[in-house]
Amino acid sequence: MARSGPARLFLSPPHMGGGEQAHVAEAFASNYIAPLGPQVNAFEAAFAEATGIAHCLAVASGTAAMHLALHCLGVGPGDLVLASSLTFIGSVSPARLLGAELAFVDSAPGTWNMDPDMLREALTRLASEGRRVKAVIPTDIYGQCADYARLLDVCAPFGVPVVADCAESMGARAYVPDSDDSLHAGAWPGLAASIFSFNGNKIITTSGGGMLASHDAELIARARKLSQQAREPAPHYEHAELGYNYRLSNILAAIGLGQLDMLEARVAQKRRVFRWYKELLREEPGLSLMPEAPTGRGNRWLTVIQLGQDFGAAPETVRQALEAQNIESRPLWKPMHLQPVFAGCRAFPCAVAETLFHHGLCLPSGTAMTREDVERVAEVVHRTGVAGRKQASCSAT
Ligand SMILES: Cc1ncc(COP(=O)(O)O)c(C=O)c1O
Repeated sequence: MARSGPARLFLSPPHMGGGEQAHVAEAFASNYIAPLGPQVNAFEAAFAEATGIAHCLAVASGTAAMHLALHCLGVGPGDLVLASSLTFIGSVSPARLLGAELAFVDSAPGTWNMDPDMLREALTRLASEGRRVKAVIPTDIYGQCADYARLLDVCAPFGVPVVADCAESMGARAYVPDSDDSLHAGAWPGLAASIFSFNGNKIITTSGGGMLASHDAELIARARKLSQQAREPAPHYEHAELGYNYRLSNILAAIGLGQLDMLEARVAQKRRVFRWYKELLREEPGLSLMPEAPTGRGNRWLTVIQLGQDFGAAPETVRQALEAQNIESRPLWKPMHLQPVFAGCRAFPCAVAETLFHHGLCLPSGTAMTREDVERVAEVVHRTGVAGRKQASCSAT
């Protein structure tokens, strides 16, 4: 039986702009129903233009892009890779699939992104033990650029390449110090490569898809070969090494072309949704929103709140109250050092990531949300806090 009542509010649903279908129709007309074709080429070119990263490879997912990036950097058995603990598993599983060991670095409390000081400590300690780190993977969490400049400065003396996980930060900007300029997420000079995701919940989507982008033409050429079963240039199928089947479908690239046109509007709307929440929730005791780092302008992919003791209700209580009103919300990414699959990994202290996870909740942040939708969510959050505080004061008397 169909559920009655208000329509479901999803966390971050796809939002088509209308132009996608024309690109898909063009792909159909040319019969490039294939993992290669004019729409893939055009999508890579348009992505390079939009981000300022000259060399781009469209692939099946963000995870595939990370797998290719790490493979190109030579990550393999016996190597150690350092990554943000507060991230999604697709950021780090490729390192493990390549046979490397992982160790996780904590977030900075003011940005929630990889803490450069904690990274320096980890690299110094590992160097003193004679361990060489093969790559560092900072995640641009919830659409906010990591402090690329500081992270690269920390890594430089150790000679460790940095691969930026920009899966969530399409459209975000990183400010260039001492200037009025900014760079697109992942475009910072000195990064070995950056990966992006066009999964269905991302700010722009191809239903599933990803991009590997780099200023290094050779790295992308190598990744391109690997992404096509490492086929050698020959008329027959010749293979001197193993690769992957990771190319993006031409049909999905066509969707991506339409979505790219909408990017600026989507960023503006995500930021507007965040501002509405901020205004509506400003007087809730013990509630705070994810801070914006002074080093950039995030895309506010998701509006994320933290609930302290004073709020009166735990994030899970709020999540259930929202669900009862047909509203989807979700806990933050459970930090990687707490995941059973990484139980044996080297653990550096990750207290900030743990606290953020235990106290946080991601609120619906779709770009088609209206002010009334946001008010509906905020009202449930408000009521749940009030009820929790009332209950606490009753049981105290
Ligand atoms: C931080 C982060 N890294 C990596 C990924 C993996 O991307 P995909 O789902 O396209 O493989 C995602 C999202 O899905 C993500 O949020």
